[in-house]
Amino acid sequence: MSLEVREVMQAFEGRRVLDGVDLTVPAGSVVGLLGPNGAGKTTLMRIVFGVLEPDAGEVRWDGRTAGDADRRRWGYMPQERGLYREMRVHDHLVWIARLYGVDRKQAADYADDLLDRLGLADRSRDAIRDLSGGMAQRVQLAVAMVHRPELLVLDEPFAGLDPAAVEFLMAVIRDHVAGGGHLVFSSHQLDLVEDLCDTIALIDGGRVVLEGSLRELRSASERRALRVDVDVDPRWLDGQPVGDVATTASGSRVALEPGAEAATVLDAIRSHTDVSDFGVEAPSLSELFRAATGRAVEDAGA
Ligand SMILES: Nc1ncnc2c1ncn2[C@@H]1O[C@H](COP(=O)(O)OP(=O)(O)O)[C@@H](O)[C@H]1O
Ligand SMILES: [Mg+2]
Repeated sequence: MSLEVREVMQAFEGRRVLDGVDLTVPAGSVVGLLGPNGAGKTTLMRIVFGVLEPDAGEVRWDGRTAGDADRRRWGYMPQERGLYREMRVHDHLVWIARLYGVDRKQAADYADDLLDRLGLADRSRDAIRDLSGGMAQRVQLAVAMVHRPELLVLDEPFAGLDPAAVEFLMAVIRDHVAGGGHLVFSSHQLDLVEDLCDTIALIDGGRVVLEGSLRELRSASERRALRVDVDVDPRWLDGQPVGDVATTASGSRVALEPGAEAATVLDAIRSHTDVSDFGVEAPSLSELFRAATGRAVEDAGA
């Protein structure tokens, strides 16, 4: 089973928002749909889930045009979250599972199991309104997963979460994929989600500008960086084949231009200060985005 998006076009008020998007999500894989705000991620996910009918193109499942029966085996977490605040957590999950055709007993079992995995077992009788924001977001994920969908479509599942909560949700999502499910999720925070993706699709201005295995894209990219445990003054590298120098508490990361010799750049730094730890790193996702579009992801978008 795989999800395929073929040549999807969408315009709003005469403005083209998706401009021929192709995307494949094979079974057992995680695809990150990544790009700046306004790139078209939410529009594409609404089309995938059938909330919006595209102007042209199609969504295919298992080699055929996807229909309502197929979509009952998918789960969707929209970017605009919606939970009934007065409902109790467990009741909410059972109700949603029932809407997807799960019988009552099974729905209750699925809800218990999922609340357990999400660390919410002791809150199952609480009303949604009494939960913290982070807990409500976990319930939102539970709502998308409670009927045990084969395919999960999550729109910005990590937005607004602290790093511990991100790690936690990633673990739950990895379990879903380990069980043979597939997942496509969107994020505008590219470097946050690197560890989760098998495959990425970078989207910008309604087009997929780069797609493929993250590992292959990284190793094929000529964009590498030299990391050193000292603060590098960019003036030390005048005339060297380097790009940006980013300095944080742990040292500097010097982007290398294609063909640059890391050892030569390291020598230039060493002529100014002692370096005890260094390494050559593959490009980050935001560096891949910049290489593909010529713009930084923070500067792109609407
Ligand atoms: N219903 C709509 N009517 C008009 N414009 C829309 C509508 N939905 C989205 N857009 C526009 O389409 C573009 C892509 O939006 P969206 O798919 O939400 O991007 P993303 O999720 O990547 O931030 C934006 O410019 C947005 O303003
Ligand atoms: Mg969006």
